[in-house]
Amino acid sequence: MSNSDNIAALAGKFGPDFVWGVSTASYQIEGAVDEDGRGRSVWDDFCDTPGAVLNGESGAVACDHYHRFRDDVQLMSELGVDAYRFSISWPRIQPDGSRIEQRGLDFYDRLVDALLEKGIQPSPTLFHWDSPAVFESNGGWQNRAITDRFAEYAHIVSQKLGDRVTRWMTINETNIFTLLGHAIGEHAPGKELGFDALNVAWNLMLAHGKATQAMRANGIKNIGIANNHAPIWPVGGRQEDIDAAGLYDIIYNKVFLDPILRGTWPLAGLIDPEVAEAGDLAIMRQPLDFLGINHYNPQGISAPSEGAPFPFDLVDVPAETHNDFGWPIVPEGFTELLVGLKAEYGDALPPIYITENGGAFNETPDEAGRVRDQRRIDYTHDHLLAIKKAMDADVDVRGYFHWSFMDNFEWAEGYSKRFGLVFVDYETQQRIPKDSFHWYNKVITSQK
Ligand code: BGC
Repeated sequence: MSNSDNIAALAGKFGPDFVWGVSTASYQIEGAVDEDGRGRSVWDDFCDTPGAVLNGESGAVACDHYHRFRDDVQLMSELGVDAYRFSISWPRIQPDGSRIEQRGLDFYDRLVDALLEKGIQPSPTLFHWDSPAVFESNGGWQNRAITDRFAEYAHIVSQKLGDRVTRWMTINETNIFTLLGHAIGEHAPGKELGFDALNVAWNLMLAHGKATQAMRANGIKNIGIANNHAPIWPVGGRQEDIDAAGLYDIIYNKVFLDPILRGTWPLAGLIDPEVAEAGDLAIMRQPLDFLGINHYNPQGISAPSEGAPFPFDLVDVPAETHNDFGWPIVPEGFTELLVGLKAEYGDALPPIYITENGGAFNETPDEAGRVRDQRRIDYTHDHLLAIKKAMDADVDVRGYFHWSFMDNFEWAEGYSKRFGLVFVDYETQQRIPKDSFHWYNKVITSQK
């Protein structure tokens, strides 16, 4: 499909009130890790661990956004977005886990004002995985004491920025941080706790609940969380594949939604978190103004192969195309996910914002300096149509934040995966808007 057809198919479909945005996260773009009193984060330590991150890379410089944020906001304004989802670096605000660092708060103060000057809605996430490293000596997210620290941090930040922020998200992807960071150790803090990582999941959701309460006490109104969800597809067709997929659906999706939307724990009696206390579920289930959904692709599951560490195997779903991460491109999975959430949670499901969606497509500038990332355009086009299908089936989706605004530090993959609408030359820090940037701009304009 040509790009003008691509735009024509979307024009006007989402209506003038739909919020169009882009997403990033602090450790992935800011750099300046030693500046203005910032403390160390678990990601600084993880990146220093030999073999943890591809090519030994780190977010020490990343996109140098800390110094270049005004230029980046200018580019966002040219992109025409209504809103910008960024995250706040907890170790900039409380370097040692308690003392408040004014210079850290001032950075986000300036960023919020710069966004508002351009008419862009500031939409911060309080925590996108870079917790202050200092907590680790005390068990980090395994210790429920961190939930009170997090509520205090939410209070500090919301008090400072609450008069100007449009919407808040407490935590990014409780499930990925639990699974990759604490169950299998592929992300910081690199723990391999297996099913014991459910204690971490519990504390994250408790922290979400307490932070929401703390922000409400400051008069904050528009609060949600950014969860990662995927439809889980059995691969193999045997009954044991279907059972394994059912179990994985609980572990990946329901464990992270039932407590916050229903106040229930879907593994009750099977695996109960050791850190649980009476009343926790009621705290987790705070009324939310919206649910943020990050989605990339469906996940395939089969029954465990011999010697597998878990009672399931993660396998590929059938797909004709893949992105440069090897992730399958299956837009219909997005419709299924959204319609399925509505069917499962009904009235308990708050209005939805898509807070991340995109792909690793590693196109680089051609001789003329142009980045022809047609694959990103096609991916985004097809996923937007998939969202629209769900909206037509009565799912209340109010906005879309593309992941990502610009190429950035892709966690354990270092700089090897490019998700941006803007190309970043890490040697020179030059930004080059890709073809997808110009395309997304036209899509946004075509709705108004
Ligand atoms: C995370 C982002 C990450 C993206 C692509 C999401 O799980 O929130 O930080 O860059 O996926 O892997």
